Amino acid sequence: MTQADTAAALRAAQDNLWMHFTRHSSYADGEVPMIVRGDGAYIYDAHGKRYLDGLAGLFVVQVGHGRSELAEAAAKQAQELAFFPLWSYAHPKAAELAARLAALTPGDLNRVFFTTGGGEAVESAWKLAKQYFKIKGKPLKHKVISRSIAYHGTPQGALSITGIPALKQVFEPLVPGSHRAPNTNYYRADEITGFPGLSEEAFGRWAADQIGKAIEMEGPDTVAAVFVEPVQNAGGCFPPPPGYFQRLREICDQHDVLLVSDEVICAFGRLGTMFGGQKFDYQPDIITCAKGMTSGYAPIGAMIASERLFEPFKDGTEMFAHGYTFGGHPVAAAVALANLDLFEREDLLGHVTRNEPVFRATLEKLLDLPIVGNVRGSGYFYGIELVKDKTTKETFNEEESERLLRGFLSKALYDAGLYCRADDRGDPVVQLAPPLICGPAEFDEIESILRGVLTEAWNRL
Ligand SMILES: Cc1ncc(COP(=O)(O)O)c(C=O)c1O
Repeated sequence: MTQADTAAALRAAQDNLWMHFTRHSSYADGEVPMIVRGDGAYIYDAHGKRYLDGLAGLFVVQVGHGRSELAEAAAKQAQELAFFPLWSYAHPKAAELAARLAALTPGDLNRVFFTTGGGEAVESAWKLAKQYFKIKGKPLKHKVISRSIAYHGTPQGALSITGIPALKQVFEPLVPGSHRAPNTNYYRADEITGFPGLSEEAFGRWAADQIGKAIEMEGPDTVAAVFVEPVQNAGGCFPPPPGYFQRLREICDQHDVLLVSDEVICAFGRLGTMFGGQKFDYQPDIITCAKGMTSGYAPIGAMIASERLFEPFKDGTEMFAHGYTFGGHPVAAAVALANLDLFEREDLLGHVTRNEPVFRATLEKLLDLPIVGNVRGSGYFYGIELVKDKTTKETFNEEESERLLRGFLSKALYDAGLYCRADDRGDPVVQLAPPLICGPAEFDEIESILRGVLTEAWNRL
């Protein structure tokens, strides 16, 4: 970009662009950060400054930036067939991708309904659950249970499933019938359960049973589905305690409630497996996924359903009256196939699995800092919880969060050359999810930048 082009783009970002989940006032006196180029695990801003992409864009760019194989797959498909909808017609790339995904998912999740992103996949899953039970003669089954602080997207159904009250209030009333249960935040298990000192297993059993209780309180014949992530992102990476998903599967089976695994972040290698069920050994009825499917080189998402859920739509006159013009877009489908080729050729799942202990050990070095209360996660997906007092686990009040997270941390990390996210949708955490091509050198760089900035944050408190 020439200097004049850069200046024009920065001006237009200030004057015309409406950014997502953004306080525009933050940039009133300054410049909007503008990323112009990516290469491997690094991104470059409009002034040529380099940053380590510690969040893979937004949990998306699994194979890294600047992969010409994916750009070429997109160009080839755009030339051959740029667009056709999946409304009563098929095109080869969507069909091929559906078969490839069906072969990769656990069990008989063989039916792939494409969307353009994750929120639409969640929305589609809830709609399918409702319609399925209506057809099956259980018309009251329509409610969903999800977990506290979990994020499931912004369409009104998906937002209703989301467990973050602050994101929902201004859009109420949302779709009715969505209810919360506790999440699996083991770091705060004492507070959540009221029973001090539970083992991880006992806490997992308790947390799964709370979902069972929520189903029973709502009435099992009114509940259609439970929505959970394999590792919950919002709140700062809550992995499932051992046995959690096995107990949850039992509860869902007992009440004829669908288990929806929202893997918009966790699928496609983020945890070192293609899908979350494979990491934690459970079988969902539906998987929702998006982000990493194309590593972000084109937008696509999917709701992948079991044979049982498709069965009523196989014969007769039933139709799932739902769709998106751009769902399963040919260019995105072609890119997803090329992306999965890269996963295989470069053994990315093996790479993440082999390096996961190194990533964890490197981040755990930060536990010697007074502000770092907990480091938790799985695969290449971690949250670092910041606290005011490590012994009591006391968290920051609203004013401190505002000053520390929004006022200092995100910008300071970025200025120091690390793009990642300081998030306070639950307790304050720094979220990390680097591209899956990263290894020990990038982990050390992440640790070193975090160490400097978190030390400075503590001194400013
Ligand atoms: C678990 C989960 N579900 C759904 C979504 C929504 O996906 P999208 O932003 O593609 O609509 C997200 C987005 O981050 C997510 O993390």
